[in-house]
Amino acid sequence: MYQRTKYDFKQELIKIKDSGLFKEERTILSSQKPEIHVQFPAGSEAREVLNFCSNNYLGLANHPDLIRAAHEALDRYGFGLASVRFICGTQDLHKRLEERISQFYRTEDTILYSSCFDANGGLFESLLGTEDAIITDALNHASIIDGIRLCKAKRFIYEHSDMKSLESALRKAREGMDIWDGPGLDKEPVPARNILIATDGVFSMDGDIANVRGIIDLANTYDALVMVDDSHATGFLGSSGRGSIEVHDALGQVDLITSTLGKAMGGATGGFTTGRREMIEILRQKSRPYLFSNTLAPSIAAAGIAAFDLLEKSDDLRRRLMANTGLFRSEMTRLGFDIIDGVHPIVPVMFRKFENDAQLSQQMARDLYAEGIYVVGFFFPVVPRGQSRIRVQISAAHTTEHIEKAVAAFAKVGRQLKVI
Ligand SMILES: Cc1ncc(COP(=O)(O)O)c(C=O)c1O
Repeated sequence: MYQRTKYDFKQELIKIKDSGLFKEERTILSSQKPEIHVQFPAGSEAREVLNFCSNNYLGLANHPDLIRAAHEALDRYGFGLASVRFICGTQDLHKRLEERISQFYRTEDTILYSSCFDANGGLFESLLGTEDAIITDALNHASIIDGIRLCKAKRFIYEHSDMKSLESALRKAREGMDIWDGPGLDKEPVPARNILIATDGVFSMDGDIANVRGIIDLANTYDALVMVDDSHATGFLGSSGRGSIEVHDALGQVDLITSTLGKAMGGATGGFTTGRREMIEILRQKSRPYLFSNTLAPSIAAAGIAAFDLLEKSDDLRRRLMANTGLFRSEMTRLGFDIIDGVHPIVPVMFRKFENDAQLSQQMARDLYAEGIYVVGFFFPVVPRGQSRIRVQISAAHTTEHIEKAVAAFAKVGRQLKVI
């Protein structure tokens, strides 16, 4: 039986390779930090490169405070819990981390997940049903898209960050939508019972920040709820690291926030949903990734608490990240690179002026790697056609020298390839 199926799968793999989209892993032989030891391609000699493509925004992936907290938790609480939360998988550590997150965001309650992917996967179907509507930004993360697919609520997609398009969807949901599924059910459209607007706080390909203020204003007008996934903002965006919602001075006005511990907050695993008490309580009763998947390892929960403690003690890492980002952005602009404007440590270096943008993004990433700078090029269909780019990600752990080396390598390769 497998012979025929094997042929199909092999053909599919060939197609992926032919389209240039085959993903290969690069093996890192050191911890996650700016200077890493990488083996690529497989079997080749490992070399030291500067890492400019991780989500280690605050440099906490290798921070002594988090490592110490994780070690202590290993010794005191053991390695794992071998249980989901509601059977026998809740330690005081999990409760403390949930309280710590609620305190950080000034929200009423928090529920932990193994990842933000799970937080988003278990959110929508637990809270909304056939009579409800979800209005979602066209560029939302895959986990929001998948979470919405699992839910029976009516889905409306609005154009990326376009408030007119969002308003038009809100109006449709309020005026009446067709919720009747199946033959012979041609009944009158009905207004949505509850409406939830879902958005990424920061969109990971462009590093642009959602118009959280505009979304809240429209939500208030149309009596809708707002959910923001702040995975690329928690810990470093806003004046005290409370993310895109703080940038828009809207703490306390968003109903649900999901985010990850897997990026700025230590970079291991773990996610959460924080917000209104009753909705978090429902998630504890109904959310499937929470009910049917293992609890966070104690070492991860303890390091999560340490990460939030660290942020509230000092602003240094956040300031360093913003200074590094400002330096890289201004130097690249001065050199004549086409970068998407903004303040976020995601800095997309664009090739949209060139006809062969896809090839250029790949060639430039390869040449930069040869110069000791590890970055990744993205092209269609990961980003829209003609919008190929190298996505640079800056960290607080980079030194000024690291940034200068990256800029010098971009200048050298950029001139060789006639990009600048
Ligand atoms: C916006 C957004 N949401 C969710 C996730 C998933 O996070 P996690 O790694 O915790 O599952 C990501 C990660 O890429 C993300 O960018």
